[in-house]
Amino acid sequence: IPVDPFDLVLFGATGDLAQRKILPGLYHRFEVGQMPEEARIVATGRREMDDATFRDHVRSAMKEFAPEVKAEVLGRFLERVEYVAVDARGDYGWCRLAGSLRPDVVRAFYLSVGPSLFQGIAQRLHDHGLATPDSRIVVEKPFGHDLASARALNEGLRTSFEEHQIYRIDHYLGKETVQNLMALRFANSLFEPLWNATHIDHVQITVAETVGIEGREAYYDQSGAMRDMVQNHLVQLLCLIAMEPPSKFAPNAVRDEKVKVIEALDPVEPGDIARGQYRPERGDDGYLDHVGNPDSRTESFIALKVRVANWRWAGVPFYLRTGKRLRARESEIAVVFRDPPHTIFPNVGHLRGNILVIRLQPDEGITLSTTIKDPGPGGFRLADVSLDMSFAEALGADARAQDAYERLVMDVIRGDQTLFMRGDEVEAAWAWVDPVIKGWEDGRDRPSPYDQGSSGPEEALMLMHRDGRRWRQIGG
Ligand code: BG6
Repeated sequence: IPVDPFDLVLFGATGDLAQRKILPGLYHRFEVGQMPEEARIVATGRREMDDATFRDHVRSAMKEFAPEVKAEVLGRFLERVEYVAVDARGDYGWCRLAGSLRPDVVRAFYLSVGPSLFQGIAQRLHDHGLATPDSRIVVEKPFGHDLASARALNEGLRTSFEEHQIYRIDHYLGKETVQNLMALRFANSLFEPLWNATHIDHVQITVAETVGIEGREAYYDQSGAMRDMVQNHLVQLLCLIAMEPPSKFAPNAVRDEKVKVIEALDPVEPGDIARGQYRPERGDDGYLDHVGNPDSRTESFIALKVRVANWRWAGVPFYLRTGKRLRARESEIAVVFRDPPHTIFPNVGHLRGNILVIRLQPDEGITLSTTIKDPGPGGFRLADVSLDMSFAEALGADARAQDAYERLVMDVIRGDQTLFMRGDEVEAAWAWVDPVIKGWEDGRDRPSPYDQGSSGPEEALMLMHRDGRRWRQIGG
């Protein structure tokens, strides 16, 4: 179903994210007919260039990042794209931009630029009369560096836009499998009755990456894994697993429940944190070389034991870990159920609880480990077998995986904020993260070195071992 006609103004249109994700995402929606005839994309950037030159830019970016595009469709898509030079820090170009927008279509401003520009752009949109009461503004992470800066960003945006107009992107919420978490929990009757401390022993959330910090050294060294990944993506995953059922799948109903989870997070004890930095390998530099600072205490890996202090989750630890240059690119959530309380079978040792694994990427799917009777000879023996569902197999292997961005951009046009973070949600996450970071900064702790291609430092393993538990293996 096509969305309503729109003018999408893209700030930072020559930047990496726009070229790599946003424009290819829009193209794909155009190709499947979701963009109506009257849809337009107004790309802006500081440099002067004409429409044709910008379109050539997009063409070459598509070759690199979306080689599957069809030349003929791309040609028609690019007819919708125009370029206006605008100085985000000054006055140049704003009147021309204002003149190019239509009054009677959905209007969205996508700020694919650094957060230092958010407020200035919001202000200029307001001052030049571009921000109508119904228009939308989209911002990217990092949304703040701590609670104070996140508050300042929120206040800056709210001088010109109201909360219902502000779309804060966490691209994890646009991932198919992340949304599937909500379908799994709330469109099935099997899991929800078991989804609590009575039946669940613990939860593991892993977002492992093989990439390092290439090209983003300065940003990353100021941030580290806690700010870059945990404050946003991992906290969002935790919320979707831990939240109470919202009364409906609607923006505030869902976000109210997520905020309650974040507010229920206990402070993390220093002993429940393991931080790491990847070390040099033969022929390959380590983290400290990459950032060019031998004294950096920024973590490229973190594991945490987190407690959600509410009735449903009392006593159920959530173990979170994420890091760069690990063994495999693999993100999953494992819900580990309690062990069966008693064994009736002779000669069978301790029985292990079932594990529900939700694989977010790659090879998206769901696995439920179960114990069955081993069919072989030699008496009654048990074997672990998993019920395994791969989304690609179940839904058709050629269904092209939609990128998170294309779904989110279309939600902006539709005016659906369900998959975007509300201001209070972002602030609540920082309010939980800030003291954790302060704890290790005050302690002047150094992250522990770990091997590239490993599962992180030894301390991360210990975090679970000492509780009599084990991480699932990264990279099978
Ligand atoms: C970004 C982080 O938000 O998410 C990156 O800044 C990280 O450091 C990326 O690599 C991971 O996203 P994805 O979609 O590849 O899992």
